[in-house]
Parts: sequence; structure tokens; C-alpha cells
Amino acid sequence: MWLEFSLRRGYHALRGHRMSEFEKVADVAELPVGSVKAYVVAGRKLAVCHTVRGFFATDDACPHRGGPLSEGDILGDEIVCPWHLWSFRLDTGVNPCSLPGNEIRVRTHEVRIEGDAILVRLTREEHP
Ligand code: FES
Repeated sequence: MWLEFSLRRGYHALRGHRMSEFEKVADVAELPVGSVKAYVVAGRKLAVCHTVRGFFATDDACPHRGGPLSEGDILGDEIVCPWHLWSFRLDTGVNPCSLPGNEIRVRTHEVRIEGDAILVRLTREEHP
């Protein structure tokens, strides 16, 4: 019984994760290297950025007080919130000043480039 429950739970968690499909958010030309813009995917506002390492997407709302990350700056591999200057790694969403094991993070989302299109797939788990 427990095993069946666990397997079902895992199946549904995995299935839930895969329910989100890639959606086009913009053309590559709209987002030159070093820029970040807000886009809405399935009703969720995201900050989509282009760095020398590629394209990244996070939730737009900063986990501190909800500042708009899409109005922040890109510094290396991090996005800096314009309100109180907290920063978050674009690959993991982790604030580099947070303590190990108690990380503060913004949710990140998978980005894929197809031709000239920037596609994003939403991460639905509570912790990216
Ligand atoms: S709201 Fe982003 S650092 Fe405070």
C-alpha cells in the first residue's frame, strides 16, 4: 500500500513537472546580450535574460519583497534586483549570499532556442 502510494505520488509529481511545455516568448533579436525583459508565460511573469553564457529565465518577482527582476541588471552570471540589490545566479536562482542549506532563491525556468525563437518551459515545483 505504502509503496503503491509512493509510486503514484512520484508518478504524479513527475507527470506534473512534465505537464508544462515549451512556449515561445520572443525572437532572439529582441533580447541582445546583456539585456533582460519581462514576458508572461501561462499567466506567470518571467524575467528572461541573455548573457554571454546563453539565455536564462527566472520568475520576475524577487523573493525578497517582490521587486521586478526584469528591471534589474545582469552582472556576469547573476541578475541583480533593482529594489535592494539582492542578486541571484541565473543558472540555479540561488542568492550567493544565502547560507548553505538555507538558500534563498528565485525560481528558474528552462530555456531553449529553436531557430530564431526563445522558448521557455515553466518549472512548477516549489523549489527549482
Ligand atoms: S525586492 Fe528584490 S532585493 Fe528587495
